[in-house]
Amino acid sequence: MYKITIDGKELQAEPGSTILQVAIKAGIDIPHFCWHPALSISGNCRMCVVEVEKMPKLQTACSTLVSDGMVVYTNTDKVVKARRGVLEFMLINHPLDCPVCDQAGECKLQDYYLIYGKYESRFREEKLKKRKVVDLGANVILDTERCILCTRCVRFFNEITKTNELGIFNRGDHSEIDTYPGKKLESIYSGNIVDICPVGALTSKDFRFKCRVWFLERTPSICTLCSRGCNIEIHHRQGRIYRIKPRVNMHVNQFWICDEGRYGYKFVNAENRILKPVVKGSSGLVPVEWEVGVIDVFMNLSAIISKYGSGSIAVVASPYLTNEDAYVLMKFAREVINTENFGYLPARRGSYDDFLLRAEKAPNERGLLNMGWKTWGDGAELLREKINNRMIRALYVTGGEGFLSQVKDVSDLLSILDYKVFHMSNREGEVDSINAILPSATFAEKDGTFTNFEGRVQRINRAFGPVGESLPDWKIIKRISMMFGKLFPYEKAEDIFKEISEKVTSYKGIDYLAIGDEGVLTDGI
Ligand code: SF4
Ligand code: FES
Repeated sequence: MYKITIDGKELQAEPGSTILQVAIKAGIDIPHFCWHPALSISGNCRMCVVEVEKMPKLQTACSTLVSDGMVVYTNTDKVVKARRGVLEFMLINHPLDCPVCDQAGECKLQDYYLIYGKYESRFREEKLKKRKVVDLGANVILDTERCILCTRCVRFFNEITKTNELGIFNRGDHSEIDTYPGKKLESIYSGNIVDICPVGALTSKDFRFKCRVWFLERTPSICTLCSRGCNIEIHHRQGRIYRIKPRVNMHVNQFWICDEGRYGYKFVNAENRILKPVVKGSSGLVPVEWEVGVIDVFMNLSAIISKYGSGSIAVVASPYLTNEDAYVLMKFAREVINTENFGYLPARRGSYDDFLLRAEKAPNERGLLNMGWKTWGDGAELLREKINNRMIRALYVTGGEGFLSQVKDVSDLLSILDYKVFHMSNREGEVDSINAILPSATFAEKDGTFTNFEGRVQRINRAFGPVGESLPDWKIIKRISMMFGKLFPYEKAEDIFKEISEKVTSYKGIDYLAIGDEGVLTDGI
């Protein structure tokens, strides 16, 4: 280890690290634009210059390696003057768009100007006019006037996705970022360049002009759209999600998320959310109060049990359930209904790559397996057989949307049954033959844990209260169970996880709070 001093603070520094890396680790802020921890060093913006003793000129902190005994100053008059010069140079042609720019509030150029700029502009000429709305592809808009040519976006496609989709074209102050002639961005990771652009040059088609960023609350969570379990932040306001951003977890997704996960939140805000329990009456499905819905389900399940026995009810888990939901559902099957006919519908399989995207399009199949859930088969074949043989007379299904979309000839299959109750968050698919729909909260509206494909248990956090009268699945099950005289004593997801960590081998000894922001590896299946 080397000893170096930054602004009078003695620090230990790994040989081979740069001044900027050591400063960041020590909580010392050195302004920078082009450097990003996941990308190669470009050293083009010069914003990170610092003074180093025994070196006659200012040095770029992002590219200067530390040496033993090095003494660095990050805030001398000389440094501050150089930074002001860099900003003045960058702002020569940069439009004064801040009042209408989506990046306002999280723009490094704006932030640094307020700290180091505030100069009287010496620029009297006309600013160069460039293209303002360049459609780069499905998700990203480029404003070439705002670009400071830091090349972060170019390096992202060269080094992270290796798809080389952007370049710098033309010369001097006419230089511009663009795709190659006749091409659009095709990478399924394109949304990440909006995150890493330090200014408002790259904006998200989905988010632009929807909300000022300072109005948004941020809640750490986990993406639910495949089994990787990428760490995300939900940016939300007044019960609506406005955007999803990646959250750094070097064990899972590093700095990135795919566009499927980034833009796949729409079902949470959708118009077709189910707001109240719905039960079938003589005039079809009608919304009812929870008390009525719960009694209806209890009466019908009880009637099936007395007529055909408790084994005639099958319970279906969904790989979208949290560990806590799945645990309580299994107890419900075993201890309340008293049936051994319980299993899960596997996650839908889809496209995948060798970076983040996994083929299993659900967040918690591994969690169900850890808990001892057995599969009903990809298209629920094993369940179908039992229904066709009339061994199963009623279904209790969670994640109803998945069941309706994945199971072949589902209407025909459901028509054989005497009774069907589904947990659903959105009214999707052929729901008319279902006898009762109980509204379930989405991942954004509840606490709990998922276990990703590698066995890492990670926490989701409630960003806002459930839409309408929907409830987390475990709370719905708790209500139904109470009618059967079984009281589950859980008040919050943490209570259930505590029991899981005592009873389920893979989770033995894991503390809910200690799962923290990075997750904890379980012992495997
Ligand atoms: Fe940098 Fe943004 Fe310009 Fe790309 S578009 S070079 S990330 S300023
Ligand atoms: Fe060092 Fe850009 S961050 S030169």
